[in-house]
Amino acid sequence: MILIIDFGSQYNQLIARRVRECEVYCQIEPPEISIESIKSLNPQGIILSGGPASTYETGSPAISADIFHLDIPVLGICYGMHFMIQAMGGIVEHSEKREYGFAELSLAEGSRIFAGIDPITPCWMSHGDVAATLPEGFQVIASTAGTPIAAVEHPQKKLFGLQFHPEVEHTPMGREMIRNFLFDICKCDRTWTMKSFAEEAIRDIRDMVGTKKVILGLSGGVDSSVTALLLHQAIGRNLTCIFVDNGLLRKTEREKLRKVFRQHLRINIRFVNAGNRFLKALTKVVDPEKKRKIIGRIFMDVFEAEAAKIPDAEFLAQGTLYPDVIESRSAFGGPSSVIKSHHNVGGLPKKMKLKLVEPLKYLFKDEVRRLGSEIGLPDEMVWRQPFPGPGLAIRIIGEITRKRLEMLREADDLLMDEIRKAGFYRRLWQSFAVLLPLKSVGVMGDHRTYEHVIAIRAVTSLDAMTADWARLPHDLLSRISNRIINEVKGINRVVYDISSKPPSTIEWE
Ligand code: XMP
Repeated sequence: MILIIDFGSQYNQLIARRVRECEVYCQIEPPEISIESIKSLNPQGIILSGGPASTYETGSPAISADIFHLDIPVLGICYGMHFMIQAMGGIVEHSEKREYGFAELSLAEGSRIFAGIDPITPCWMSHGDVAATLPEGFQVIASTAGTPIAAVEHPQKKLFGLQFHPEVEHTPMGREMIRNFLFDICKCDRTWTMKSFAEEAIRDIRDMVGTKKVILGLSGGVDSSVTALLLHQAIGRNLTCIFVDNGLLRKTEREKLRKVFRQHLRINIRFVNAGNRFLKALTKVVDPEKKRKIIGRIFMDVFEAEAAKIPDAEFLAQGTLYPDVIESRSAFGGPSSVIKSHHNVGGLPKKMKLKLVEPLKYLFKDEVRRLGSEIGLPDEMVWRQPFPGPGLAIRIIGEITRKRLEMLREADDLLMDEIRKAGFYRRLWQSFAVLLPLKSVGVMGDHRTYEHVIAIRAVTSLDAMTADWARLPHDLLSRISNRIINEVKGINRVVYDISSKPPSTIEWE
């Protein structure tokens, strides 16, 4: 494995992604990690991340300099390189010339980390400090016009420092540099596969849980679905999944879920039909945040009451992912076990005195999908578009009534049918219909109509942080519009949302 020390860079997760793309396992740890813990992790290489601080400031993040004497190769990136240089006796200072953005890197001949890379190659710089004096044994292996010491190496000790960021897309040969570090310098093997992960995760769950009972809140999203199947394969009937039907689901969601999980995968699952309770509490509520609060509160109550029917349960399983774990730590480390509360079940474990099982907490989203496929989760679940916990409630702008829910559900179902048929489902991050709180005039046959408006939202995105409206073909939009207006009673107009995020959001509420 490769150990990544987190000095607070915004690119830390990217470094981890790059390493794992090479099928090498890596773990991000705060700089406070002890040398003993590092030794017990037995990494084949260590990467020191960048960070916003300056090494010469008091209180800047630091790790014991002993890591440079463990006979383990170390790659320092930006702040990580400065830290290495300073810790080994060199000098880092503030530069008058801040370098930010593209720079042309000139490589010296012969460094193994640059093997196979052209001597002139672009790189991405983002720093205000530079290495001024190198410690003994280090040599310069690359420079740019503005930064004479842009990369360094101590060949005997296998220590490397890069002033630029090899992990970002803007450094086109950065992947190659990371590969050289992993395979040529650290001698890593490509063992990080989802098959090996699944086997290990199942073993770990059995060790942790033994013959005790586990509860899991199943939403049907990919994270909770993969968690459920993994636990099912580890402990079988000792897992009970609880699915709360809040009456705000898409048209066929509940049936699809029942078919896949109960009939096909034979997972132990309880369906709680709580639609009436949710709808009653939402009567006349218009404010989106109020809707969310009400839905969250009732979900907790319903879930807790159902879980209480399994009195000897000792564990709660959650589909927490690695980005949540990393983000929940403070910038410079802190207690690594603090987990960001999950959308819908946050607060439950403490209240219910259950211990957490989080088998996905070292995985990124795309890895969860690969794991799902590996353990036999059907494609329709693996590639499901995200669906928000509050469901259709935040897609009915204004008041929620049964009639309006029904209209939206029908329109949304037709939309999804056309999107699937056109082969767009997987290419879109999300696609859905929104019911607007206004009526407009139309004409059907010889009659004037005065009916509701549906907005179509379809976006592409990598992580929902930013999103762009999808350039759907006009004939597909036309089919969607025709079908909704013809087949859904009460709708006489369909509009397409052409806003990106930011400044808009994906959901309308
Ligand atoms: P926005 O609308 O903020 O949405 O661009 C970003 C992503 O989050 C989802 N979303 C939610 N998911 N509970 C959830 O579980 C919520 O209250 C919620 N609000 C938004 C949204 O669908 C999108 O994927």
